Amino acid sequence: MVAAAHSWSHMSAIDAMNDRTQHPQTLVLSTPPDAIPADAIAQAARLLRAGDVVAFPTETVYGLGADATSEVAVRRIFAAKERPLSDPLIVHLADVTQLADVTRDIPSAALQLAKRFWPGPLTMVLPRNARIPALVAAGGDTIGVRVPAHPVALALLRAADIPVAAPSANRFMHTSPTTAAHVLADLNGRIACVLDGGPTQVGVESTVVDLTTIPPRLLRPGGVTLEALRVILPDIFAPEPATQGAPSAEPARAPGQMERHYAPHTRLIVFAATGKPALAAMLTEANAALARGEQVGALAADEEAATLEGAGVRVARLGPADDLAAISRRLYAALRELDSAELDLLLAHSFGRRGLGLAIEDRLRRAAGGHLRAV
Ligand code: TXA
Ligand code: MG
Repeated sequence: MVAAAHSWSHMSAIDAMNDRTQHPQTLVLSTPPDAIPADAIAQAARLLRAGDVVAFPTETVYGLGADATSEVAVRRIFAAKERPLSDPLIVHLADVTQLADVTRDIPSAALQLAKRFWPGPLTMVLPRNARIPALVAAGGDTIGVRVPAHPVALALLRAADIPVAAPSANRFMHTSPTTAAHVLADLNGRIACVLDGGPTQVGVESTVVDLTTIPPRLLRPGGVTLEALRVILPDIFAPEPATQGAPSAEPARAPGQMERHYAPHTRLIVFAATGKPALAAMLTEANAALARGEQVGALAADEEAATLEGAGVRVARLGPADDLAAISRRLYAALRELDSAELDLLLAHSFGRRGLGLAIEDRLRRAAGGHLRAV
């Protein structure tokens, strides 16, 4: 892809230090996962080691990486995203042997989980090693860590040979990016480089589990299912998600857990239903809005598309209703697509709480401002 001239490299070192969130153009390097160019990885690794921020694909969503051992570098992530310093970052490792470099007092459950789920979409919250600046952890004593299962992410982590702090590569509160184009839509000109490894496979973020509490606690449902976690953590505590009304009153353990997140600009209603009742609820709401002269969009299963389109609704197809992996893979791209279509109202419904359904429901609920509508 385009190798943009980066004129910032001609600035004085001091200017560059002060101004590394201003990049006239973000360097885009093509890194197809099945034929990863070594020079692109080496270049991105050099940027990371020099303290710059680099966006890269993981199996879940694109991450915005910086050297996790450098407070100056990590600060640039927050600046590029306009993310408040109170929201902790996940540290990405090339493999489990690096765990002791970034955490301490590692419980045996963590090693069991790592053995079963790494590389993969599981983030463990563990006591923070003093080598990692407090800024990464929003000032706290714990740190989220994971080994991502994406060949480009792993190649970059190995080449850089440092732990890499990386939140999702979107502006704060926006929908997470599942393509390099999504990253550029939010961050072009604000980051040094993005590695384009094509669309991500899982589509929703990693599962976050806190292993510093007894019992361990699910902080965010994600790519590793709660059912799979329970095999190793039978006593894991997973708060029951609210369906209707105000978001749960329980104080968020991490500010990243805030209810309004992943949010489209267009008004979104999400029904807490599946199958026929869900389709009927979407149709009723759509017809009322269309009668008011509004333009309506829907995130829908393939089987629902024709009915909704017949009623005059613009549909973003998520995949077959029983293929939750396909639905989570498509979810954010579909949200972005409809959100940029200048519609007045978006409709969606949940897909149950089994397997990936729990994460899909969680993201839809946050995108809708904190609650689902009961049917
Ligand atoms: O799949 C993912 O996890 C992606 C890719 C890039 O790895 N990353 C990601 O990062 O989703 P981010 O920053 O958008 O979300 C991470 C969330 C934080 O918002 C916070 O809720 C939780 O993980 N988290 C991180 N460190 C934590 C800590 N020390 N204690 C509690 N929660 C933490
Ligand atoms: Mg995020």
